[in-house]
Amino acid sequence: MKLWGGRFAEGASELLERFNNSLPFDWRLWEEDIEGSIAHGTMLAEVGILTADEGERLVEALQEIREEIHKGERKFDFSVEDIHTQIEIWLVEKCGDLGKKLHTARSRNDQVALDLRLYTKKSLKKIGELLKELVKTLAELGRDNAGTIAPGYTHLQKAQPISYGHQLLAYAEMFLRDLDRLQDAYKRCDVLPLGSGALAGVPYKIDRERTKELLGFGSVSRNSIDAVSDRDFVCDCLYACSMIMVHLSRLAEELVIYSSFEFGFIELSDRYSTGSSIMPQKKNPDVPELIRGKTGRVCGDLLGLLVTLKGLPLAYNKDMQEDKEAFFDAVDTTQICLEIITPVLQTMKIKGDKMAEAAETGYLNATDLADFLVQKGVPFRSAHEIVGKVVQLGIEQGLEITEIPLEKLQAISPLIDREVLEKLGAKECVARRDVYGGTAEIQVASAAEAVLEALAEAEF
Ligand code: ARG
Repeated sequence: MKLWGGRFAEGASELLERFNNSLPFDWRLWEEDIEGSIAHGTMLAEVGILTADEGERLVEALQEIREEIHKGERKFDFSVEDIHTQIEIWLVEKCGDLGKKLHTARSRNDQVALDLRLYTKKSLKKIGELLKELVKTLAELGRDNAGTIAPGYTHLQKAQPISYGHQLLAYAEMFLRDLDRLQDAYKRCDVLPLGSGALAGVPYKIDRERTKELLGFGSVSRNSIDAVSDRDFVCDCLYACSMIMVHLSRLAEELVIYSSFEFGFIELSDRYSTGSSIMPQKKNPDVPELIRGKTGRVCGDLLGLLVTLKGLPLAYNKDMQEDKEAFFDAVDTTQICLEIITPVLQTMKIKGDKMAEAAETGYLNATDLADFLVQKGVPFRSAHEIVGKVVQLGIEQGLEITEIPLEKLQAISPLIDREVLEKLGAKECVARRDVYGGTAEIQVASAAEAVLEALAEAEF
């Protein structure tokens, strides 16, 4: 059964059906489609386009269909064109001709826009919940590791000592921004498109405000052409997912590197690691690797949709049916990645001793020595040059700055003394960065609390 057979003398080819049908993927909108239909039917009866009795019978039938799908009693027939057609077929089975009245003052164009908005709103909330769990975990780990000394890197070369908690909280900040992005996307998604009809609005005295209320939308769309053409809200959601994935991927990369034998800063728990079929000794970080890999997919989903939308004339075009697979894929992928990263972090072993040890070698205190010379009146650029010579000597002799004999250091600069050398431990270097936003333990501890507070205030 088609919703549009009337003007056709011949039936559609089987190939057309396979090509055109979206039920194989848009069946996932079934709950939203029914929810929207219940609200539409209720409103039609309230304004007198249907009788009260008709409205009640339609709503009851839709509720039954919902129950039956839930219980597994109704199976989708994938030869049917799309989810809207499938639900209508079932409705007509139950209510006869009355079922055919529900599509009064509605088009599939505003119906699909509605279903998708309802689904997007739910997805944004679900992703938001998972994101909050992750930020909470990172904030707690950050707080607990505020005093854990670790090497900090730029260009993946040892740079300056930091608190490992500070590094974990850097990710918490990224994901807090992502939460903000989700909330922002939610606001723009929270607009009712139903009542826009095919593109021009509908010639019935419907009550769109009432439908909005019934479905819990924040506002009603102002332009019917825009309302059926607009998939910005899907793009917004996919952009937010892409950013989350990019952040997850950077974190994942760090977990891969830090769990390698050469770094040995963390160890992932056995429950979230995998082995090799040939090398018995292996313990592989497949979870972070998969997260890194799936990031490409989600970014691809966003790009695919943007390119699909580019150049479409107003209003609805069938190209827009291509939004769904990318959308579902991005949302599913982001959700499972968020779901799994949190317990991976909660169960990993942080090897503070190894980190602290690594922070003592590789001249991470060179900047601090330069800063001491600055305190003694040397211009920073000259101090930089002097310490450069010290590091060069250290590399030649295989010694850290503090291991080089004092006379040799003083031959480079007489301003270097024993007192200065005693203050070049990684711990002291970290403690000195006691500036708001810096890596000193006390700053990190209070930043962790601030993240937890921001989380408690977040809308969802
Ligand atoms: N299956 C379609 C989609 O997902 C529903 C809208 C169809 N509208 C139409 N005029 N063909 O986009």
